[in-house]
Amino acid sequence: MSAPPRLSHGRLAVRPSLKPRALMDDPPEVATAWAATVLTIFPGLFPGPLAESLTGQALAKGLWRLDALDIRAFARDKHRSVDGPPAGGGPGMVMRPDVVSAAIDSAWDGVRPILYLSPRGRPFTQARAAELARGKGAILLCGRFEGVDQRVLDGRAVEEVSVGDFVMTGGEIPAMALIDGVVRLLPGVLGNAASVEEESFAGGLLEAPCYTRPPEWEGRATPEVLLSGHHARIADWRKAQAEAVTKERRPDLWRAHVARPADPDEARELSDAQTFAGTGGPMKEHDQ
Ligand SMILES: C[S@@+](CC[C@H](N)C(=O)[O-])C[C@H]1O[C@@H](n2cnc3c(N)ncnc32)[C@H](O)[C@@H]1O
Repeated sequence: MSAPPRLSHGRLAVRPSLKPRALMDDPPEVATAWAATVLTIFPGLFPGPLAESLTGQALAKGLWRLDALDIRAFARDKHRSVDGPPAGGGPGMVMRPDVVSAAIDSAWDGVRPILYLSPRGRPFTQARAAELARGKGAILLCGRFEGVDQRVLDGRAVEEVSVGDFVMTGGEIPAMALIDGVVRLLPGVLGNAASVEEESFAGGLLEAPCYTRPPEWEGRATPEVLLSGHHARIADWRKAQAEAVTKERRPDLWRAHVARPADPDEARELSDAQTFAGTGGPMKEHDQ
């Protein structure tokens, strides 16, 4: 089979140059940058919103890489079909294991985890985003129709991740959400790295409410403490607000927060263990 069509974005795009090839090569930091390979039947949807704002600037700078690979290019029949009727009957169509596995095998480098965006997956968390940001990248499989044949998920040790308890028409927007969540954690992507440390989920809580100018708007005043310049009081107020909003809106997070060990290393281990509980590790069967 000839090389499948691949849409590359960012610094990996071919640029005209008068310099000899060796000098034109991407610098090592681009070649080793965090890399997302998206497997989709709609590669033209990428980079989409990822080309804008901070993720787009980081892509242009080569802080991360993006490839969108067309699953349809791996279809073997003359109609280039990627799906078939569900075994056992029922509505809709299912993505074929032979076609999807060929796409996965073409992208897999033995290092990056293979993630299938799926409403049946474990909820994607900030802890998993941070874990992925510490790695080399990810291969993201976007489903369509009724989803992907289970045998390819089992046979390639694919990790299923969900972006929420609702059903979308395809995995492309969930994949973009996941990539956005990871890329903003990569070094150099955010202007102020401190914002990552203080935002929702970082300490196991939702963030306190935020305010800006003017101090009064439509009769509503900014809480006096935030205008006091008293850093310790502001920190106490934010902590109390974060606890209150978490307790009210996310009792699940609150329970996990109060059960958390005081030692940050132990807490991180617990959070990672909770994130992966029950998964066999993304690469197991592929390594055999
Ligand atoms: C219509 S959905 C298939 C839903 C599937 N029949 C089910 O009931 O679980 C088509 C594709 O959209 C993607 N998708 C839909 N909702 C998602 C979610 N909440 N998180 C991640 N991916 C989702 C998946 O890739 C899925 O294969």
